[in-house]
Amino acid sequence: MAQALESIPNNVDLSSDRRLQRALEQWQPNFLTWWREVGPDGFQAHQVYLRTAVSVEANGWAHFDFVRMPDYRWGIFLEPKEKERIIGFGDVMGEPAWEEIPGEHRNSLRRIIVTQADTEPASVEQQRLLGKTCPSLYDLRNLFQVNVEEGRHLWAMVYLLHRFFGRDGREEADELLQRRSGSSDKPRILNAFNEPIDDWLSFFMFAMFTDRDGKYQLAALAQSGFDPLARTTRFMLTEEAHHLFVGESGVDRIVQRCAEVMAAGKDPRAEGAVPFELIQKSINLWFSLSLDLFGGEVSSNAADFFASGLKGRFREDQLPEHKAMGETYRMEVPEGGKLVEQEVPLRNAMNEVLRDEYVKDCQRAVDRWNKSLSRAGVTGMELRLPHRRFHRAVGPCAGLFFDPDGRLITEAEFREHEGAWLPTAEDRAFVRSLMHPVTERGKMASWIAPPAKGINGMPLDFEYVKPPEA
Ligand SMILES: [Fe+2]
Ligand SMILES: [Fe+2]
Repeated sequence: MAQALESIPNNVDLSSDRRLQRALEQWQPNFLTWWREVGPDGFQAHQVYLRTAVSVEANGWAHFDFVRMPDYRWGIFLEPKEKERIIGFGDVMGEPAWEEIPGEHRNSLRRIIVTQADTEPASVEQQRLLGKTCPSLYDLRNLFQVNVEEGRHLWAMVYLLHRFFGRDGREEADELLQRRSGSSDKPRILNAFNEPIDDWLSFFMFAMFTDRDGKYQLAALAQSGFDPLARTTRFMLTEEAHHLFVGESGVDRIVQRCAEVMAAGKDPRAEGAVPFELIQKSINLWFSLSLDLFGGEVSSNAADFFASGLKGRFREDQLPEHKAMGETYRMEVPEGGKLVEQEVPLRNAMNEVLRDEYVKDCQRAVDRWNKSLSRAGVTGMELRLPHRRFHRAVGPCAGLFFDPDGRLITEAEFREHEGAWLPTAEDRAFVRSLMHPVTERGKMASWIAPPAKGINGMPLDFEYVKPPEA
């Protein structure tokens, strides 16, 4: 049963804006239809131990309880307004933040919001079949937690479209429910969101690498001069932290299990674990796909977004200066068959600047996974991030071929090694062969170590997902 609109938890005073209320009331049943059609397959009547955002207070923003997913209360929350907030960067630095959209930035902001919004339902669609092969009830619950929160992020963006963009905002909001991940005629906007995620190794890699791109995009938008966007994305980041935890710790547990088997002198494949080289190939794939999401290395759009105060840098407010004028960024770009060093005006390198922060964060996680390997007694083997030029489809490296060390190679050389660098059809088939549902309380599939602790202080063998009551 659809919830009444008044019951949508919100701190934007929905009930005081009749027009907005009507627009959302029309959109809501379509959202629920979308959720039923392409949200998690099965489990819609199950009771899931979920966290629901109920306010924005740092302690006490979330409420944990058993919920049937279609009854989840997708709320609309913005971080509280800062009194007299001023824009903190770009040419408009020092001007008051905008409560409404300046006409000249309407198109750019719409594009930024729609692109972000599109990723939210896309990931739910990509992951819809995973519940059927969950490695444990703990993981099943985490998958659904991520799914419902991506649904809430869609609500957050649709609120902005409906509230600030009038008729074209409403049209964009409708189209968000019409595009489909992987569809040939109406695909999702960004490539990584059209890749199938039909096994849990891919899911954890996606939550680790692709969701982490989301963190950096949201963090850049959290600085935006358009205050409602800044306040929405700041709150989304609170939820995002859990998604990233699910990804990073999920890969870590796969690494731990692989390491444990290797340390015992056994073959991971024979033990139903994911072999080391396959974990590496999966990192190569998802890291490179996710790097593309930051956009081209040199970008006049990125420069414009920064100059006009739409999108800042990661933690812009903590940087020593906020104009990024008269500075350059050095990068190596391919030109005429070799790599040449180029000095790019810093504002035009903003995508690369954000990507730098992302790469550092990913490296931190890889270091942690390598600690798990050595702690288990595996020596002489380390996981690594491929070079950021490897396997790129966006920017100056697209269409060229690089090895994982970033060396420019020929297509023939790339094809010769491709199967050693990226998952092959056989690799994918092997991973799929490991995917059998494990739904006994406290039990884990053979390919993953148990997590360090349960959710919200619950024990590991807690029944995180319960079948529908008979
Ligand atoms: Fe999200
Ligand atoms: Fe997420």
